[in-house]
This record gives sequence, structure tokens and C-alpha cells, in this order.
Amino acid sequence: MAHVRSVFRDESMLLPEYLPHQIPHRDAQFKMLELYFQGVVQNASRASQNVIVSGPIGSGKSMLAKKLGESLQKKGALYGNLVKMLQVNCRIERTLQAVMVKALKSLGQSYPSRGYSFEELLSALVEELKNNRIHLVIAFDEVDSLITADPSALYTITRLREIAQGRQVFSSILISKTTDYLKAVDLSTLSSLQWNEIKLEPYASEQLMDIITSRTEAFNDGCLDESTAQLAADIAGQFGDARYALDLVYRAGKLADASESPRVLPEHVRSAKASLPPQFSKEELSYLSRHQKLILLSVSALLKKGEASYVTIGEVEKSYSALCEGMGVNPNHHTQVWSDVNELARKGIIEAQLSGKGMRGRTTLIGLSLVSAKELIEELEKGTVADVRA
Ligand SMILES: Nc1ncnc2c1ncn2[C@@H]1O[C@H](COP(=O)(O)OP(=O)(O)OP(=O)(O)O)[C@@H](O)[C@H]1O
Ligand SMILES: [Mg+2]
Repeated sequence: MAHVRSVFRDESMLLPEYLPHQIPHRDAQFKMLELYFQGVVQNASRASQNVIVSGPIGSGKSMLAKKLGESLQKKGALYGNLVKMLQVNCRIERTLQAVMVKALKSLGQSYPSRGYSFEELLSALVEELKNNRIHLVIAFDEVDSLITADPSALYTITRLREIAQGRQVFSSILISKTTDYLKAVDLSTLSSLQWNEIKLEPYASEQLMDIITSRTEAFNDGCLDESTAQLAADIAGQFGDARYALDLVYRAGKLADASESPRVLPEHVRSAKASLPPQFSKEELSYLSRHQKLILLSVSALLKKGEASYVTIGEVEKSYSALCEGMGVNPNHHTQVWSDVNELARKGIIEAQLSGKGMRGRTTLIGLSLVSAKELIEELEKGTVADVRA
């Protein structure tokens, strides 16, 4: 078989993990962030900073924090200061305790995820930071999920800077799509917050075009038509979402390769768009619990097999139990399965509705609202089955 040339030169430049050098339309915001932390960089043992970053999906929040982490480390070193950043996703690290364990781990201290109280972990962390003269900036990504589950967490985060006596060891960045979570917090916490805020707006199509253009080196010369990039920018512009724009271009490139097209054409973007709706990021799947993934796999497998657009929760449970058995995993009981199904529905990944009083009696019917079963299975099996088995 002849070697087929790819449209990509370096496709990793389009993946979510890639940290871009150029950040069109976010330079000012990045500069602002750096300025807020200038005091910490220069005077790590005496200064502390708290910043709130908000903005819609794909507006560059996590990316900015990650870049800041790099910059803090470099700039701190210029002043002889050790400034480290730890970025935690609060949808994965769901409690402050888990965040502490993660922070300790980043300093080479391993603690079990259970067995120590928050206070114990915190004082171990403070000790560690003080001994090593480290100032730790914790970026709480998707912090709303943490605060919503435990409103007192915000109070605790606010107080972190007062904890280490004689030396500042903490700063924080709170990242979320909106600042609605602050509404649930009591006034005394709010007034003592004194946070600086950076609010990101959704990207306009022209801005997304610039972002795509800043990554054209992901493609071989001449492989990404301007009209193709423009179409991706226009489609993603409806959502202001840079992740979606880059994902569209990436998938379009894959489709071009699959059809052995030497260039990525607008038609590839249209097909890419049809294959994955926005708002449903692959990332979303990685946040699901192991059993939620197994349930989702069962739903997808059942729907892929049959002609029906819905399956009953009973069928799902049966297939889920079989799947668990096949993998040597203990299946959850009915109530837990039911609550996982509800959570998947709440996230919009599946649709769950009560059937009418038909031949089957009343039962919950489950369908896929966003993606095709085939696609979900592919996504789940790509990365996620590996960790389902782990
Ligand atoms: N101005 C920009 N220049 C270059 N790339 C960008 C820019 N803004 C965002 N991106 C890229 O878009 C993708 C999404 O950005 P990011 O992950 O920061 O979004 P987010 O605001 O955290 O979204 P979410 O709320 O969904 O977590 C990343 O791959 C990021 O590198
Ligand atoms: Mg993010």
C-alpha cells in the first residue's frame, strides 16, 4: 500500500492539552493576571493574591491559568522565589480534602485519599510549603461544583492566606463559567473576599479565525484552506467557543485524511460538525465515574444494536450488570444505577423519560440526546475503557 500523506504536520497542536505560545485576543487578560501576581512573584513570603476568572465554555480560562503557572515559576525564579501553581479540576477533586491530597502529592508527599481530616492535611501542607519556602498558587478550576456542594469551602479558601503564620504560602485563583455560585454564599464571606476579577467574553468568529490561524502550523503548508478555517470559525462563533473551533478543524483534518484528500475542505468541517455537537466535549466523558461510564457504554451498546430510539432502564441495568461481570467489576445496586442515570441525564448526555402506560407498564426510557451510539462507544473505548478496567 502506498504511503498516504497526512494533512497534519503536528496534530498535537490542536489537542486540548496543547499549551499555545500565541494567545490572540487574550494577551491583555494574561498581562492583567500577571500583574495581579507581580507582588507574589517579587515577595512570595509576604504577599498573597486571590483572583476570580470567569467566562463561558472555551473562552480560555483553563488555558490562561496554565500559562500563568509557567510564567509565575519563571518570574519567581528571577527574584529568587519559588512560586508553584497547582491547577485542580474541582469536578474531579470534589472536596477540599482531595485538593489538599493533590497538593501534597505535587510536592512529593503521598497521603491516602481517605483517613486524614482536612485540617491534618492542611497543616501538613503548610509545613511542607514553609520548610521548602514555596508559595503555592492553587487554581481551583470549575470551582462552582466545589462551592455548590459545600458553600463553606469558599470561606475556607478565603482564609487560607491567614493560616501560615509569619509567612505567606498560599494564593488562589477561582475559575468558573459564571460567578453565580457566589450568590449562594453568605454576605460576610463575600465582603471579606476582596477578590480581583477577570471576566472573559465569548469569542467572536473573527477572533476564532485568528486563533485557528495561530495554529496553522499544525497543518502541512497549503493543507488548510482559508475558507475551511473560516467556516469552522463561523460555526464555533455561534458559541464563542475556541475549543469547539479547534476541535472542528482537528476533526475536519482527520476526515480529510480518511478520505485521502490532500487538503481540508469546508465539506470536511460540515461533516465534523455533524459528528460532534458543541457543548458535548470529549472531556466531559472523562469526568464521569467509572460506573457512569459503564452505564453509558451499556446504553450505547443497546441502542446501537437495536432499531429503537429508547431502551428501558431494566434493559440497561441487565446489560450493565453483564458488562461489569465481564470486566470483573462489582455492579452497583438499583438505586445507585438510577441516580447515575439521573446524573447522566442532568448533564445532557442521555435522555431519560417516564414511559406512558404502554405495554410495558410505567418505566424509565433512556435515549441518547446528543451523539450517536456508535460515536459514544468509540469515544468511551478510546481512552476510557482503559481506566474503566483499571
Ligand atoms: N486566545 C486563545 N488563543 C489560542 N488558543 C486558545 C485561546 N483561547 C482558548 N484557546 C484554546 O481553546 C481551548 C479551550 O480553552 P480552555 O480550555 O482554556 O477553555 P475554558 O474557558 O477553560 O472552557 P471550559 O469552561 O469549557 O473549561 C484550549 O485548547 C485552548 O488552548
Ligand atoms: Mg476549563
